[in-house]
Amino acid sequence: MANNKLYITDTILRDAHQSQAATRMRVEDMLPACEILDNMGYWSLECWGGATFDSCMRFLNEDPWERLRKLKAALPKTRLQMLFRGQNILGYKHYADDVVDAFCRKSIENGIDVVRVFDALNDVRNLEQAMKSIKKYGAICEAAISYTTSPVHNDEYFVKLAKTLEQMGADVICIKDMANLLLPMDAYKLVKKLKANVSCPIHLHTHNTTGTGDMVNLMAAQAGVDIVDTALSPLANGTAQPSTEALVATLKGTDRDTELDLTMLSKAAEHFRGVANKLKSEGSLDPKVLNVDTNTLLYQVPGGMLSNLLSQLKQANAEDKYYEVLAEIPRVRRDCGYPPLVTPTSQIVGTQAVFNIIGGERYKMITKETKGLLRGEYGQVPGEVNEEVRRKAIGDADVVTCRPADLLEPELEKYAEEAKDLAKCEEDVLSYALFPQVASKFLAERNNPKKPEDEVRTLYVEY
Ligand code: CO
Repeated sequence: MANNKLYITDTILRDAHQSQAATRMRVEDMLPACEILDNMGYWSLECWGGATFDSCMRFLNEDPWERLRKLKAALPKTRLQMLFRGQNILGYKHYADDVVDAFCRKSIENGIDVVRVFDALNDVRNLEQAMKSIKKYGAICEAAISYTTSPVHNDEYFVKLAKTLEQMGADVICIKDMANLLLPMDAYKLVKKLKANVSCPIHLHTHNTTGTGDMVNLMAAQAGVDIVDTALSPLANGTAQPSTEALVATLKGTDRDTELDLTMLSKAAEHFRGVANKLKSEGSLDPKVLNVDTNTLLYQVPGGMLSNLLSQLKQANAEDKYYEVLAEIPRVRRDCGYPPLVTPTSQIVGTQAVFNIIGGERYKMITKETKGLLRGEYGQVPGEVNEEVRRKAIGDADVVTCRPADLLEPELEKYAEEAKDLAKCEEDVLSYALFPQVASKFLAERNNPKKPEDEVRTLYVEY
């Protein structure tokens, strides 16, 4: 990075609405603001990947690939960024290398310029194929450290990891603090150490769940971080990113001036205020997500997990067990070798903790996913697992020690064959590979849209 300016990635088109409004922003709500966003001078706009792909097909009747092409056409000057879960791509299991490669190729072909890739366990073997493919097809490869705190996670651990990622070809290193566990002073120290030990730019991603996000960004800026993620104010803060405008104003006239224009930001914000109000009136945005949540600091549990937990307990009629489960989560996490809590490990550890408490006995019932985690199916966990719990879970079964994807045969052909009646292009096959049920329904309806007469008839019948 040539000068001292702090670069900004705005997450308004992806993480902000994923974190605050269940990923329900539609492309029609994005396009009217694209011209102004494109002229802002952002380092990049995060706009694709994460949960948007699933949400497009499942809830919004939108083709995710079409969304990407529309955004690319409307944002010709700005780098488009996506979030990619390593060997899981955007799904919830490991895919074979040929699917990972094809997904990278198609994402980049359709308009992605920066791919942020991460693995929940920080097992770099789960990033190998994606990183290779991202570079092969010419995008910026931003490899992420999933940030967490535990007896095995310290600055030395993260510096070593960052060096490995740089050796593997990362163009940018991201500190991905999905739960806003990174505290401001620790952010300062970590950024300083990373800057001293790796030469590629450092990009910080945090949230404002615990109310420390703005301070984290500021201290990281003081320590020399190159790029930070923020969101335009209408969908900023709480479980989303701290606001762009606040950071831009804070640094104005300093040596870390972002050079973004507050008047233009305010114009863009005006548009998204309308979108946020619409999401609120549809019930997708619950203002509760804006509350500062200190349970995350006490229990090290990401904000998104807390709401999941509550709904699981409600279903089991065990809401009174909330605090017991919260206290059980760190114990399950310790038994599993201290995985960072991010998709999918947050769900695995959270669900197991619920079973341990409402089952009345720890590990009386062990989920398939917990067994998989303990068997090494997701990769190498950061610390030592509790052997007694592992024996209870998998008996004498072999533990996976190789790169998990080495156990998978190429599978793209198989998906193409399964989806041949529905898929009109390779993108459709990839949609199907990631979300077979959701994509089948979406593609069938897209291929045979209801005629207007049908709709009228339906309306008539219903009345
Ligand atoms: Co995030």
